[in-house]
Amino acid sequence: MVDESGRSPAAAVFDALGGEYEKAFADSAVHRASLEWLLDRLGPGSRVLDVGSGTGRPTAAALAGAGHRVLGVDVSPVMVEIASRQVPGGEFRCADIRTMPLEDESFDAVCVYFALLQMSRAEQSALVRRLVRALRPGGFLVLATVPLDVEDFDGVFMGQAVRVSSFAAQDAIALVRGAGLTVLSEQSVMFTPAHPDARPEPQLFLHCRLDGTEQAG
Ligand SMILES: C[S@@+](CC[C@H](N)C(=O)[O-])C[C@H]1O[C@@H](n2cnc3c(N)ncnc32)[C@H](O)[C@@H]1O
Repeated sequence: MVDESGRSPAAAVFDALGGEYEKAFADSAVHRASLEWLLDRLGPGSRVLDVGSGTGRPTAAALAGAGHRVLGVDVSPVMVEIASRQVPGGEFRCADIRTMPLEDESFDAVCVYFALLQMSRAEQSALVRRLVRALRPGGFLVLATVPLDVEDFDGVFMGQAVRVSSFAAQDAIALVRGAGLTVLSEQSVMFTPAHPDARPEPQLFLHCRLDGTEQAG
């Protein structure tokens, strides 16, 4: 869970990438459309948790710009520094979301854009369940991931060595449903980041709502 310097592997990778990540993914029309989906449904001044908030763009910037109260959490100090600078209307915390305490029913929405991939499958499942508990009934969770059936796969992402775990699309959908969410819409796309070392990747966006008060697990 930590490298020899005491950092988590995700912190090491994203400290090295910093703003390069934002440039490579800035052209994602599907990410922007996903944010529009959420913005169309949030009440004024909603409280939103952005898990793995990166540089703060586009997610926290769009939400804070629309008047919502955003808490961005990221394990990379470099990303948190960039986000705090770029999105002064948001609040950003440097923490590992796997261990950060979350109050029950304290958020109107939770965003998880591509933040799970350096966690084990068990950690991803446990985290989604905790995030659902942090949602108020009727709240929304938006999850975007790279839907590949891989576990502890050693690869290279934008020139950085990474160990990746993920779920095939149907298993990612089963995960959010099993955590008590209703999937209102899903979108699958192929996206090529604007970076010389990047390859086309499949992306899955799930737009979910927590209905009622009953939650599984
Ligand atoms: C692929 S980037 C996506 C950034 C942003 N969500 C976006 O879509 O532009 C993943 C981000 O999640 C962060 N991250 C990964 N694991 C994390 C963890 N356990 N706790 C908090 N942040 C994490 C990384 O540091 C990185 O900034």
